[in-house]
Amino acid sequence: MCGIIGYVGSKPVIPILLAGLSRLEYRGYDSVGIAVIAGGELQLFRRAGKVEDLAHQLAAHESSAQVGIGHTRWATHGPPTVENAHPHVDCRGKIAVVHNGIIENYRDLKARLVASGHTFKSDTDSEVIAHLIEEHDHGDLRAAVTAAVRELAGAFAIAVVSAGDPTRVVAARRGSPLVVGTSSDGGYVCSDIPAIIGRVEKVMFLADGEIADVRRDGIDVFTQSGEKVERAPQPITVDPLAIQKGGYKHFMLKEIHEQPRAVGETLREKLLPARTEFSAIDRITAGIDRVYLVACGTAYHAGLVAEYQWEERLGIPVHTVIASEFRYRKMPVDSHTLVVAVSQSGETVDTLMAARHAQAQGARVLALVNTVNSALARTADAAVYTRAGIEIGVAATKTFTAQLALLSLVGIYIARRGVPVVDQLDCVTSALRLLPGQLAEVLAAESEVRRLAERFYTARDFLFLGRGPLYPIALEGALKLKEVSYIHAEGYPAGEMKHGPIALIDERMPVVVLLNSHFMYDKVLSNIEEVKARNGTVIVLTDRPADAAVQERADHIISIPTADASIVPALYAVPLQLLAYYIAVRRGTDVDQPRNLAKTVTVE
Ligand code: AGP
Repeated sequence: MCGIIGYVGSKPVIPILLAGLSRLEYRGYDSVGIAVIAGGELQLFRRAGKVEDLAHQLAAHESSAQVGIGHTRWATHGPPTVENAHPHVDCRGKIAVVHNGIIENYRDLKARLVASGHTFKSDTDSEVIAHLIEEHDHGDLRAAVTAAVRELAGAFAIAVVSAGDPTRVVAARRGSPLVVGTSSDGGYVCSDIPAIIGRVEKVMFLADGEIADVRRDGIDVFTQSGEKVERAPQPITVDPLAIQKGGYKHFMLKEIHEQPRAVGETLREKLLPARTEFSAIDRITAGIDRVYLVACGTAYHAGLVAEYQWEERLGIPVHTVIASEFRYRKMPVDSHTLVVAVSQSGETVDTLMAARHAQAQGARVLALVNTVNSALARTADAAVYTRAGIEIGVAATKTFTAQLALLSLVGIYIARRGVPVVDQLDCVTSALRLLPGQLAEVLAAESEVRRLAERFYTARDFLFLGRGPLYPIALEGALKLKEVSYIHAEGYPAGEMKHGPIALIDERMPVVVLLNSHFMYDKVLSNIEEVKARNGTVIVLTDRPADAAVQERADHIISIPTADASIVPALYAVPLQLLAYYIAVRRGTDVDQPRNLAKTVTVE
C-alpha cells in the first residue's frame, strides 16, 4: 500500500506534505514525491528513496505554494524509480495525481489513451488516471475527476491537483481508505489519520464511491453521480502521543512495551458483564457448524493459536486458513459456516477478498480488526475490535498479543452458546484479567534477551520449536526475526523436527524451544535432548526454569510466568519479539521499516 496526502490552505504546503508523508511512511517507503502549484505552474519533486531524502533535496527550496499533494510508495507496477514515483502528471504537466490501490483495467485504458495521442512516462497503473482526467478536463476539476473515476476498475484512493485551479484538491476513493480533515488554516486529505493528527480539528472518512472537493474554506463530498453527501465531520480522537516514539529508539520497541496496555484496553469493556460489543456475535453465530479463521502473516499465526483453543471449546470443526489460499480453495462453505477474518489493518486485500468470497457462498463473516471503520470491518456481518491503538512499526507486535487475547475471549464466548460452559468462561476471563500484568512481568526479561541477541546476532539461521498452541508462536518468532533482522528462520512443531529439519542442526544453529507445563512438557524435553545430541545450541523459554532437566540441557533459559493455558501463547510471544528486535538493532537494519515490506499489503 501507499500513503497519500493533500493540502490546500493558507500555510506553505511543502513542510505540511513532507511531515505528513514521514508519518505515513510505514504504509510504503521505496519512493516518494510531491506536486505543488506555485505561480500558476505545477512543480514536481520526486525521489527513489525515503521521505528524508526528498526533504533533504528540498531543504534549500523556497516556495510560496499553498496547495499540493504527496505520496509515499510501495511498488506494485514498476520498480521504485523516479519515473514510477508519484505524483503522475498528464501530457500537459498541468494535472497531478497520487494514487493508492490498483487499477485493474489500466492496460485497456492505457491502450485507448495512447491511441488517442497520450504519452506515458512510467510503468505504473496509476499514470492512466492523470491522462484520463486530462481527457475529461473542461475547466472543472471535480467534474473531470468524477468522470474519470467512473471509468476505473479496481481499488483506488486518489488526490488530484490542477495548475488550472489552485483553490482545491479533489479526492476520490473506492476500496482504499481516505480521510478528509478541516482546520482553521485549510483542508486536508490523507490515506490515514496519523498524517494529519495535530493539524486538524475534525475529520470525515469518505465512503466508497465518494468524491471530496477540498478547499481552504471547507470540504464538500459528492457521490459519483454528483449528489451532495450531507455528513458532519467528527472531532479527531487519536492522541498525538500515539504517533510519537515517546523516548524509545524505534516504534517497534515502544509497541512491544505497550502490550500490557494494548491487551488491557482490548479486554476492558469486553470483560464487563454486559459485553455490548459481543451482541453482534450472538446475531451471526446461531446454528453454525463450522468455523474458518482467515488471515495473513502475523494475524494468521494468531488465528492458528485460536484454532487450537476453539476446536477444544466449540466441538465443531475449526480451521485456520491463509486468506490468499482460502479464496482459491474449494473448502466447504455454506450458510452454517462462520468465517472469522483477523486483521490489524482491516485493509489487507487477501483477507478482505476471502471474507467477500465466503459471504458470496452464504457464510457469515466476523471481522476481528484493530482499525475501526476499515474496509474489512465494514464488509463483515459483524466486527469486534482489538483496541491496541495505532501500530506504526511494520512488524506487528502489540496487535498480535491483542488478537490472541480477543480471540481467546471470543472463542469461549461463542462456545458458551447452547452449551453451559460458564465455568470455562469464568476460568478464561479470570486468566485474561491477569494477562496485562503477566505481560509486564515477561517484559522484565528484556535485558536477558538483549544479552542473547548480542550472543547470536551473527547467526545465519534460527530454528523455533513449539507444540500445541506454542507451535504458531514458534512460527511468529521466526517471522519476526526474518522481517526485521533478515536472518533465515523457521518455526516448526517440535515433534515434527525429527522428520526433516533435524538435518539442519549443528553447533552453529541456535534453536529456540518453547517449553511449557501445559503443552507436552516431557515430549518437548525429549526434543531438546535430540537437538543437544546433534550439538545444537538451545535457548529454552519455560515456566519451569528451576527444573534440573531443563538446566542440564539448556544453554540459555528465559523464564516465563506460570499461567492458565489460554494466555500462555501471548506470554511466550513477547521474548521472541524482543529477540528479533535486539538482533535487528545489532545488525543495523531499518527496524521500523524493513526492506521490501509495507505495513499493509493491499495487492493480491
Ligand atoms: C507482521 O509483522 C507483518 N507485517 C504481516 O505479516 C502482517 O501481519 C500481515 O500482512 C497481515 O496484516 P493485517 O493484520 O493488517 O491484515
